[in-house]
Amino acid sequence: MAGTAGLAALPVRAMAPKTLTARVATAQIAPPKYAATEVWTYDGALPGPVLRVPQGGRLARRLVNDLSVPTSIHWHGIRIDNAMDGVAGLTQEAVPPGGTFDYDFAVPDAGTFWYHAHTNSFEQVARGLSGALIVEEPDAPEVDRDVVLVLDDWLLNPEDAQFMEPFGHPMSLSHGGRLGNLLGTNGTYDYAREVKANERLRLRLINASNARIFVLQLAGLEGWTIALDGMPLPAPEPVEAELILAPAQRIDLIVDVTADVGETAALVRFDDDQWRPQARFPVAGTASATRRDGPAALPPNPNIEVPGIDSARRLDMAMEGGAMGRMSGAMMNGRAIGFREMAGQGQFWALAGQVGMTDTPFASLDRGETVRVRMTNETAFAHAMHLHGMHFRQVAEDGTLGPMRDTILSYPDEPLEIAFVADNPGKWLFHCHMLGHAASGMTTWINVT
Ligand code: C2O
Ligand code: CU
Repeated sequence: MAGTAGLAALPVRAMAPKTLTARVATAQIAPPKYAATEVWTYDGALPGPVLRVPQGGRLARRLVNDLSVPTSIHWHGIRIDNAMDGVAGLTQEAVPPGGTFDYDFAVPDAGTFWYHAHTNSFEQVARGLSGALIVEEPDAPEVDRDVVLVLDDWLLNPEDAQFMEPFGHPMSLSHGGRLGNLLGTNGTYDYAREVKANERLRLRLINASNARIFVLQLAGLEGWTIALDGMPLPAPEPVEAELILAPAQRIDLIVDVTADVGETAALVRFDDDQWRPQARFPVAGTASATRRDGPAALPPNPNIEVPGIDSARRLDMAMEGGAMGRMSGAMMNGRAIGFREMAGQGQFWALAGQVGMTDTPFASLDRGETVRVRMTNETAFAHAMHLHGMHFRQVAEDGTLGPMRDTILSYPDEPLEIAFVADNPGKWLFHCHMLGHAASGMTTWINVT
């Protein structure tokens, strides 16, 4: 039994906030013959620690900035209180070196989310400042293992295995973004985890890379997609075709291990004209002699309807610029500017005719209204467009609505339309999650009041 001394100590312990410290560390990302890489981390881990919180609960973390530059944390995909959104310059001041910031917010939706730096993101995320944020269902589906897979790529100098600089090279900004020369999962080029035959796993895929679009398949695994960007699908969808995972997107899978003992099941990716392992699952031992039945759907999250799209306000957003684009110029800081002059200032892209942030938002929305945004990709590149604070649904040509998402991949010359209910008040970024694109023009914002 605890004595009085123990009881007296309790309030002090309860008051000490849990921290998340941004700091430099080293990680062996590359094969052992290479040096360890100096990385920027949360709590020394690459990726950052997996944060788990029950649905409907709160996440409270004090960001401690032990870096030599200002930083802030964005909680990607959480339908969050605006003041906690972590966008330096819009929802908070960046936290200076040595400073702290207390994040404390409710998590309404269960699912797979992630957190990452939102100050100079194109550099800070590339250096390692990201991690998984898992909001747990009260009734989670029955699986043998819940496996978080943070997919990433790193652009390393082969000489010394350190990050290639500059992070914002004009060539990558104006093309597909910063693509790594080493790909991996959970901080290593060769992620492996033992499993058993006939085991059922929940795989939580998170694309934390700056710009890479992962093309994935299952090998020795039979699977179902159960959620996208944290939001449950109405019914599990068997994985038959390739899975496309754009930067910042998440896919939750239920998979059964169909490979035999001694074989290696895998999540494989297509690159360099080949399928290569992205995460390996060597099969050691048998969990059961028989397979389970197919999985059930996850319980739905609250507030997932997008009603009234026929009468909704309609907005247009042209995406323009980049290498091989046809943009002659745009508005920047309130004046018209030609593409050459933009490029001279390291800016290459425009959304709705504007380069980067503007004083007035792309849209001022009334709280609770439904809005449709039609996006036309007039560039030569794909873009992963992300809305903060609210999920949206794609509106198909025939008016049907797609799954709830927070990040959607747009391909050149394939216009797409999204619709959402502006039910979360505040200032919300809308930007390309190819982070170099976001830093060189593809960032705007909406205001919900
Ligand atoms: Cu994950 Cu503004 O982004
Ligand atoms: Cu982009």
